[in-house]
Amino acid sequence: LRTVIQKGLLAGELPVVTTDPNQLQEQARKAMPKAGFDYILGGAGEAATMDANRLAFRQWKIIPRVLKPTTPRDLSVTLFGQKYDVPILMAPIGVQSLFHQDKEIGVAQACAELRVPFTLSTVSQSTFEEVAAAAPGSPKWFQLYWPSDEELTASLLKRAKDNGYTALVVTLDTWTLAWRPTDLDTANVPFLVGVGDANGFSDPVFRRKFAEMSDGGTPEDNLVQAAMYWIGNTFPGVSRSWEDLKILKKHWDGPIILKGILSVEDAILAAEHGMDGIVVSNHGGRQIDGAIGTLDVLPEIVDAVGSKLTVMMDSGIRTGADILKALALGAKAVFVGRPVVYGLGINGKEGAEAVLAGLLADLDLTMGFTGVQNIGELNQSILRKIQHAG
Ligand code: FNR
Repeated sequence: LRTVIQKGLLAGELPVVTTDPNQLQEQARKAMPKAGFDYILGGAGEAATMDANRLAFRQWKIIPRVLKPTTPRDLSVTLFGQKYDVPILMAPIGVQSLFHQDKEIGVAQACAELRVPFTLSTVSQSTFEEVAAAAPGSPKWFQLYWPSDEELTASLLKRAKDNGYTALVVTLDTWTLAWRPTDLDTANVPFLVGVGDANGFSDPVFRRKFAEMSDGGTPEDNLVQAAMYWIGNTFPGVSRSWEDLKILKKHWDGPIILKGILSVEDAILAAEHGMDGIVVSNHGGRQIDGAIGTLDVLPEIVDAVGSKLTVMMDSGIRTGADILKALALGAKAVFVGRPVVYGLGINGKEGAEAVLAGLLADLDLTMGFTGVQNIGELNQSILRKIQHAG
């Protein structure tokens, strides 16, 4: 905040990326190539789930306190025995070269500047190794789209581990692509296939298996065929079973977090199967139209399993107040998706960093106005649910 005010009010230098959460999407629409922007914006069906996510946040109101000491403020949290300076993480977002040439490397560096853990998507356009080299020593997690092939799964997990990714986020709501009109109407899906994938194409197991099935061809020689083979492996088209989780436990000895949980029953099953955490998420409304808003289901999931595993959430976080509400309702941390890649699309690494810095400054201020000094003090007593609010 201080930087924005010093540069703007005092020196007449306005921010490149808007500080207004209601303007960010429109600024990105104007700044970005249409295919990239449409891919970020896209929700499933009529985007009712995206609306539900926002409405859920709007219905909770903060009750501020005054005349309480609120400095210094500490935004740190502990997840899986590891202390992190801030309670937000970068959500795994694939194919970032569609948005800006700085792609995942740029976003990882932006995250590193602010000590925000970066989650690398399986379908990224920068490899495990490139991201690790670009942001050494910064906190990094890996998100798995779970290949049908166990050997390939093991190879990806090994590379993640070898390169310093400390936690595994397994996305379970995207075993196949959803009905997303923005992609289908603009032929964005074939475009994506044509782009190919960095982690897959650089993987030794993937390369060997692709050579076997294509009579010695390399992914680079047969881009479309290799992309189809990779996508066929990473989005196997059928959901796995709870029993299969032991395959992942066999190949990963760090924390395992299931992403895409919306039901209390599934949260309980995750705990029963020895998972370390869950992300209450509807994939930013991109998978199922008409799904429940994540904040609407978060409190009951926290009630059911909050003492057994680490509950985190995402989908629809746009402001510091949103982060505060999710944490007060029991999330241990939140992931932020679209706002950061809109920032990336507008102004590369700096744009992503501006969005993240803005969110953290906004959260810090909102904590101060709410009368809390650290994240551990947040609980539901600072909130009231107003059902009729818009
Ligand atoms: C995603 N998301 C996602 N999730 C995941 O597990 N792996 C991935 O590769 C991607 N890719 C991806 C691309 C784009 C363009 C978007 C917008 C989202 C989902 C993401 O991790 C997260 O769940 C949502 O983005 C959170 O919702 P908000 O913050 O975008 O509303």
